[in-house]
Amino acid sequence: MSCRWRAAVLVVAAVSCLVQAQHTKLQAVECPFPEGQVVLSEAECGKYSACEWTDGRCHMVDNAVGGYVVQNDPEETSRGFKVNLRKAQDSVTMFGGDVTNLVFEVIRHQDYHVQVKIYDADKARYEVPVPLSLPESPGLEPLYNVSVSGVGEPFHFQITRMATGNTVFRSMGPLTYEDQFIQIHTWLMSTYLYGFGENTHLSFRHVFEPRTTFPIFARDQPVGPDPMNEYGHHPYYMVMEDDEGNSHSVFLKNSNAMEYSTFLLDDGTPALTLRTIGGILDFHFFLGPYPEDLNVQYINMIGRPVFPPYWSLGFQLSRYGYNSTDAVREVRERMKLMGIPQDVQTCDIDYMNRYRDFTYDPVNWGDLPDLIQELHNDNLKVTLILDPALVIDFDDYQPAIRGKAADAFIKWSDPSLVPSDQEPGTDDYMVGYVWPDTKTVFPDFLRPETQTWWMNELKLFHDELRYDAIWIDMNEPANFGTNLDKPWNWPPDKPDWSLKCPNNAWDDPPYPTMTIRTGDNKSKKISDHTICMSAKQTDGNQSYLHYDVHSLYGWSETVATYNGLKEVQPEKRPVVLSRSTFPGSGQYAVHWLGDNSADWTQMHMAIIGMFDFGMFGIPMVGADICGFFGEPDLEMCMRWMEVGSFYPFSRNHNTAGSADQDPGMWPEVAEISRYTLNIRYQYLPYLYTLFHKAHMHGSTVVRPLLNVFPSDLQARDVDDQFMWGNGLMVAPVITKGATSRSVYFPKGLWYHLVHGELAATGPSTQTVDAPLEVIPLFVPGGTILPYQVPSINTVESRQNPFGLTVALDELMMASGDLFWDAGDGQMAMQQAYMGRFNYDQDELTLTVKHGAEAVADLYLETINIYGFPVMPSHVNITVNGNETAIASWMYDHTDRVLTTWTEVPMGKALNIKFLYEATHSLNTRH
Ligand code: GLC
Repeated sequence: MSCRWRAAVLVVAAVSCLVQAQHTKLQAVECPFPEGQVVLSEAECGKYSACEWTDGRCHMVDNAVGGYVVQNDPEETSRGFKVNLRKAQDSVTMFGGDVTNLVFEVIRHQDYHVQVKIYDADKARYEVPVPLSLPESPGLEPLYNVSVSGVGEPFHFQITRMATGNTVFRSMGPLTYEDQFIQIHTWLMSTYLYGFGENTHLSFRHVFEPRTTFPIFARDQPVGPDPMNEYGHHPYYMVMEDDEGNSHSVFLKNSNAMEYSTFLLDDGTPALTLRTIGGILDFHFFLGPYPEDLNVQYINMIGRPVFPPYWSLGFQLSRYGYNSTDAVREVRERMKLMGIPQDVQTCDIDYMNRYRDFTYDPVNWGDLPDLIQELHNDNLKVTLILDPALVIDFDDYQPAIRGKAADAFIKWSDPSLVPSDQEPGTDDYMVGYVWPDTKTVFPDFLRPETQTWWMNELKLFHDELRYDAIWIDMNEPANFGTNLDKPWNWPPDKPDWSLKCPNNAWDDPPYPTMTIRTGDNKSKKISDHTICMSAKQTDGNQSYLHYDVHSLYGWSETVATYNGLKEVQPEKRPVVLSRSTFPGSGQYAVHWLGDNSADWTQMHMAIIGMFDFGMFGIPMVGADICGFFGEPDLEMCMRWMEVGSFYPFSRNHNTAGSADQDPGMWPEVAEISRYTLNIRYQYLPYLYTLFHKAHMHGSTVVRPLLNVFPSDLQARDVDDQFMWGNGLMVAPVITKGATSRSVYFPKGLWYHLVHGELAATGPSTQTVDAPLEVIPLFVPGGTILPYQVPSINTVESRQNPFGLTVALDELMMASGDLFWDAGDGQMAMQQAYMGRFNYDQDELTLTVKHGAEAVADLYLETINIYGFPVMPSHVNITVNGNETAIASWMYDHTDRVLTTWTEVPMGKALNIKFLYEATHSLNTRH
């Protein structure tokens, strides 16, 4: 066998040169200690037979010793091939429980998509029960090769991109596959690595030097600068391979607690380690080739995003600590007085009676039904929060009584684990404590009976309170004070108590991952701040340990809530705002980035969070504007309202006990919020069109520059600017005291969005003025953005005249489109409107693909052409050949913007010609 990789798709080459590759210095492949590297010493290293001490480093032993050996030639299957692997040396282990025989299986899907599974040959292990959309038959011209080492050789596999030979995955060092510890390493083509979450990323592009490790595991963990695991679980990353922008992405379908490490080998090669403490290795590789293609490919597999109703794209206001309906009325009045657009008012747990789900406080919130009616009359929608945990009052609290009758709650996996002090009536449920003053149980949303019960509770609740959207919080699930003496909010008059998890393999796994060493982990256990891993859940067919399905809790609650809302209001699109998410959640949920702080760094981190969630298929995302914890000063809140006006999910929210920070609080913030939110509302038709595309095709809404300009190396490091689709760039000021900022403009012409003057010809970096009241916004040449005259809410703005922002490129061309429908409800595609705008030289056309009735009363009134190259002495404008339809025109020769006013129906095909006589040519545009 020659020592080179051979193409292997159907026929797989067994390649013996792998061993040689393994001998390159892999001492940088760190040996993990449960306590972290602080305990690093030769003695500590010596405790693990899978580790070796060399030159002051504790690293994994050689693949030939610590890994697996290929047992047979590849066996063809209908969709790919399989090989059997056997552990090289039984005595070599990290934490014991090694799986002796493995299967390595390659399954072809689309040409750009291949799955690789590595699983126990002898015994079924836990696999994630979240459905994926996979093709019935594989593509015929795969873009990839998969190869594996030869019979008798140490196991190793590689995936390459056929067109370029680029490496997509190339395992290195030993594969470790133990019952509760699985570890694999890969070389990477470059350090342009993005994704993984939900984490507190300080930069979108990952850091390799120093070595950086992040845990992944759903956790009620506020935002902070350390490498922490937060609310959701998204083992998905992307690597940009070369200067052309060829990129691949990888999804590890595994829901156990895990972590990833990025580092450089001694020769500088970037590498990645993936560790998980359960389940199997189930990889999906996508070949793109470009970043936006990868999003589309991955998102089509996990499920395309929900289509948000139009109103939910409006500005949303919330806070924890409103204390009464009158407090809400007060803030609403402030918003009205200041003329700040608003579409949604949210009520946090304050509205509940003693923090019990499906109730409202009869004293301070007794007229909540009236308040909701008032808000509805005011054209606002109302979001109410629900937490998953329900109090154990099985005598008087009907939701819990009905839940118990449905056997809806999570149980201990073994009756012997039920604590002896368990309250009467709580049976073998796992009992914890969250916000209410009484202990709680946790619905098992995987159970069909629980889903039916929850749906019914949502219905009964809606009969009482006519909410429009549901916010599901604390669904990691969060539990206060687990393993501690008592929760922080435990009633002082009661003897200390908390949920205590047993010492067993699940609650004390041999390698609990970095989740116990980072963030707010007081008990230093994997169950800290959540329920015990020894809980049992079931989907009716199969039982699961919470250890395995913990990170699916938010996803399962999301599905149940979404289905419930569909029943409650069949004529509406369900809006579910979920804190915890898993791949696939985007089909049902929108997301906010959790408990952040009034902090400038976190304002930056929110942009990165939006990029991450775009990759994860949850484009309707944003952070708590002006910060949840802490109190922003005027400057911070002003800057945050500016950038937050361009979050897809645009909501100002803060915690109880801190001062009000709604934009009406400071006259200066009110004024700038009115201004920036008006720009948002003006371009909502464009944003809505992007969401429709996301829903139909899986594309992103907020984009990093690298998605739009994949071969622009400089764009790959920009994470303080973002785009809406390809047509609008936001470059917010997120630095205290700054009144200007440096903006990177990729190739092409860039105009200021608001006034239309040319800002830059890219690629170039420019310092742009940005006094306190200015957020720099740009539109790239070649774009047509549809807009509507803004208003105080979307009910009104949706009736206003349309306009077009036409930004010409160097060839005097531009294009864009508009999707329009009733804004809510299930779309009938034939009834929805789809219009395509095109500008070429002196001609603007509108082609109506379908749905003219959907825009029956809407007119196009204003057309602003940015970069109009000549100063016309006269413009003769004809609309569909008719000279009189254009009322007037104006040319701003400083900004080079031609504006025309007309009144033509949006539903009819249009052809507008601009016949002008030039007084002189303005040919110094660049
Ligand atoms: C959690 C949520 C936060 C909410 C609070 C009270 O901390 O993340 O947004 O305000 O609970 O419900």
